[in-house]
Amino acid sequence: MHTRRPIIIANWKLNGGLDLLCTSVASFIGKHHEAEIVVCPPYIYIREMLNFLRHSEVFIGSQNVSKFESGAYTGETSAQMLKEAGCEFCLIGHSERRSMFRENNASCQIKVARALANKLTPVLCIGENEEQRDNQVTKDVLTRQLEESLEGIELTGDDICIAYEPVWAIGTGNAASPEIAQEVHQFIRQELTCLYGAETAQKIRLLYGGSVNKNNAKDLLSQQDIDGLLVGGASLDPDHFLAICQQATIQAEAQLV
Ligand code: 13P
Repeated sequence: MHTRRPIIIANWKLNGGLDLLCTSVASFIGKHHEAEIVVCPPYIYIREMLNFLRHSEVFIGSQNVSKFESGAYTGETSAQMLKEAGCEFCLIGHSERRSMFRENNASCQIKVARALANKLTPVLCIGENEEQRDNQVTKDVLTRQLEESLEGIELTGDDICIAYEPVWAIGTGNAASPEIAQEVHQFIRQELTCLYGAETAQKIRLLYGGSVNKNNAKDLLSQQDIDGLLVGGASLDPDHFLAICQQATIQAEAQLV
């Protein structure tokens, strides 16, 4: 069994200002965390956040990436630019981008390829909505999202993360139970095993996202196939975010013994 380092990613979405965001990560500076911690600020804050976190082991990620490399694409930011700016990770296909900005599996596939080509770790977001869950087609939806978003993409396993974010759990306070989340993560790993083989699939870190907070983080993280958490609202609250990262650190330390 492969050991996967726990990872916590803060998705700050379109929230600021800079002071609030700095407060939420101030406690990480100068401290070592066994878990990997990543923050994804709005693009405009990436540089300042890197500077603020320079004496920490916190990584910076972007919330999106252009599917284009360069050219006349007003408002876009390329994978190469994000890498140059200091990003190590990038979120791809978040449900808010799928539902509000017309992203689909095909655009995600191009973005994943661009991220990998520029040595950014893609965090591919997948998940079913409420209607799909009610109609019991969750597994079909996830299979399709994985197959189409990863079509033709070669992976080693430690070069990508997959985030399962059920749309019905995002921003609702209604997180998936640890048991449901584990069942789905196990299914995702099975699908990745079909696509890439067991050795690669065992290396891929799977994150859960959707109404994570300091009270449910421990139970979610203790599930076998949940290797990390993608945190929205609670990552803006220093008390919640620190507690969530501490849980991941406890989990990471337990793996070391
Ligand atoms: P919440 O944690 O606010 O539900 O948001 C989850 C999310 O969308 C993270 O990407």
